[in-house]
Amino acid sequence: MSQAELTTGHTAAALPALNADIAALPPYNAGLSLAEAQRLGGREDMARLASNENPDGCAPAVLAALSGAALEPWRYADPACTQLRAALAGHTGVAADRIVIGNGSEEMILAASRVLVGPGRGVLTVLPSFGLHAICAASLGAGVSHVPMTPGGGFDIGGLCAALAQGPAMLALSSPWNPVGPALDAPALDRLLRAADPARTAILFDEAYFEYADPVTRPAALAMLARWGGHWVSLRSFSKAWGLAGLRVGYALCSGRALATTLGNAKTPFNVNAAAQAGALAALTDPAWMQASVARCAAERARMTSALAAIGLFTPPSQTNFLFVDTGRDAEAVAAALLRAGVIVKPWREPGFEHFLRVTIGTADENDRFIHAIRNACLTCQEP
Ligand SMILES: Cc1ncc(COP(=O)(O)O)c(C=O)c1O
Repeated sequence: MSQAELTTGHTAAALPALNADIAALPPYNAGLSLAEAQRLGGREDMARLASNENPDGCAPAVLAALSGAALEPWRYADPACTQLRAALAGHTGVAADRIVIGNGSEEMILAASRVLVGPGRGVLTVLPSFGLHAICAASLGAGVSHVPMTPGGGFDIGGLCAALAQGPAMLALSSPWNPVGPALDAPALDRLLRAADPARTAILFDEAYFEYADPVTRPAALAMLARWGGHWVSLRSFSKAWGLAGLRVGYALCSGRALATTLGNAKTPFNVNAAAQAGALAALTDPAWMQASVARCAAERARMTSALAAIGLFTPPSQTNFLFVDTGRDAEAVAAALLRAGVIVKPWREPGFEHFLRVTIGTADENDRFIHAIRNACLTCQEP
């Protein structure tokens, strides 16, 4: 093979077809890399408010575990994540044999989709949505239907109940809701569960932002799902409140052992590496660190919400570490102006939501920079 062929790849015409479902997938909107954002913004100092990472970092116990001699990178990690599942059983009250650990909770979205949907067995989700709920289902040849948010930025419970009456194979939604912010309260979840027929529909209840939800209104979702009686998976993540996004650890709490075992069959065997297992275990030893970070985030979120309202920008009420901001203009243009001011946010791309951007709650300094920059951007970017 010539150097040119090595560089550009081959161009032969007659090759077997690629998987058409995968080839047709929309790309996941992962946002800009830091290097790309710095190039486009023309500056180095960036406030990284696009990916809902934790600006507080992580608990010191995690860093200690990652640098400790107990980590043996030359050994395969425990494929069953035995210690971490035992710790999570204590943390959640769900038996260890109903917990499956993923390389991020996103891996468990794909595993649950592989187990629960397929051609002729579609998924129902919301709009706007966390992209992988639809992308994983579509990659398996499953149809996807959406129920849009209400004008006030809430779940359209009536619309979801009507769609559930059609018996989709899976209802997949996040609560608290990425990218919008609200969480289902107990009466809303109760209505959805009454509308979902356990003989036809499974539920993927994605709680990646669980720790940020208001403890007063947060429904006892696991107990409600258990009473409902169908197949369900509750997803949690170490990437957000626990600050371990780079380690890639999330987990699925499953309605029963058979579902957990099947989800385990749908992932690769050594999916969670040794550093990730050690880091997550260490994080669980310091819940006070996580709670303090969540409290700081809630205070900053309230401050940001008021500042945005003062500029005249609407944000649905959020129980997460981000806000969904209606800029009233092309959010790509606003995001480009923010980049030049040293702030990375995520302009939303789903049809009908191109005026919105999602901004992570950062440190107080980062949030000040964002507020200042969006005020200026709204003065310079044209309204439609
Ligand atoms: C709703 C939701 N689910 C799942 C994930 C995936 O998280 P991770 O794979 O980092 O655990 C995210 C990440 O942003 C998310 O917002």
